Amino acid sequence: MKFYYAPMEGITLYPLRNIHREVFGEWVDSYFTPFLTASHTHHFKNREKADVLPEKNTAFNGSLKQIVPQIMAANSENFTWAAGEMKKLGYDEVNLNLGCPAPTVVNRHKGAGLLAEPEYLDRMLSEIFDAVSGKETFPEISLKTRLGFSDPKEAEALMKIYAGYPVKELIIHARVREDYYAGAPRLDEFKEAVSAYRAAGGKADISYNGNIVDIASFERIKNELGIDASCSETQMGEVSSVMIGRGLLSDPSLVRQLKGGSALLPDELKRYLAKLYDAYAGYIPEDRNVIFKMLEHWAYLHVHFKDSDKCLKQIRKSRSRAEYHAAVNNIFAECEFV
Ligand SMILES: Cc1cc2nc3c(=O)[nH]c(=O)nc-3n(C[C@H](O)[C@H](O)[C@H](O)COP(=O)(O)O)c2cc1C
Repeated sequence: MKFYYAPMEGITLYPLRNIHREVFGEWVDSYFTPFLTASHTHHFKNREKADVLPEKNTAFNGSLKQIVPQIMAANSENFTWAAGEMKKLGYDEVNLNLGCPAPTVVNRHKGAGLLAEPEYLDRMLSEIFDAVSGKETFPEISLKTRLGFSDPKEAEALMKIYAGYPVKELIIHARVREDYYAGAPRLDEFKEAVSAYRAAGGKADISYNGNIVDIASFERIKNELGIDASCSETQMGEVSSVMIGRGLLSDPSLVRQLKGGSALLPDELKRYLAKLYDAYAGYIPEDRNVIFKMLEHWAYLHVHFKDSDKCLKQIRKSRSRAEYHAAVNNIFAECEFV
């Protein structure tokens, strides 16, 4: 079983990927970048392009095999251009975003918006795979989808479409667009979707995504899905990898634990936070903006500190590097680590 770090816009950028790997080691099998928008101008925004430059991904020892750039595109031409650019940079796989629920994305026929237009999606995939298949100038393509736009019953038709193409891996977030990120993942519908995909002849590896936040949730989901964690090959109805997003933000050691390693230690969390601050400081100007970035992490990490309301408030109110670090030292000193 493989474990992937999910793409999260504004968060899983190279500073986080590098520091996570530096501090927590090589337990995560692949890191997916937040989506890069493949626009009709055939230029990436500077910041998006910087995120995938090999020289920025310093913790990966010059090997990009464990990073998968994700592309958001509204049509085959833009996607194919972006995929070719990623291959030129050295990537062997790119991922197509079929799940972003944001109205501005959906309304522009991108992300989860494509799930609402299955005929168009089928045509788009057909054009993409016609253009790239068998060509060394393109990477392999994986898909990250939801079960549907508004109803998981849509999954059957979507899975039939996906089964028609030589997809490297099919990652299924067990929700529909209308769920956004809330509520329990739809495990029964996920299983039905996998069966529909296999019944239609789909051969790709399948990855499960949604609400794996600790060992207990992993075991429960694994049991409900009938996943054999020791299984290396995908079999009917089984998945060969899981993708974890928010769970890794709240416990950066989660994949290590799921692979049998030790629980999160306060000292390593402290080191991770300090290094992350420095990495963001080299990425964005002004202490205040760096602190805002760190607060995105604290929104998930605070769970490790018992009765921490006062200390968290101090972190949130900090305005300078010195204030922020003093507040962080204080939470480690004052609050019980859980
Ligand atoms: C803040 C945030 C940003 C996200 N950005 C992306 C993104 O850029 N691309 C993508 O495919 N999914 C994105 N997602 C969805 C996650 O990759 C993942 O599918 C979702 O969080 C469910 O997994 P989890 O329960 O393990 O977090 C984002 C989720 C969050 C919470």
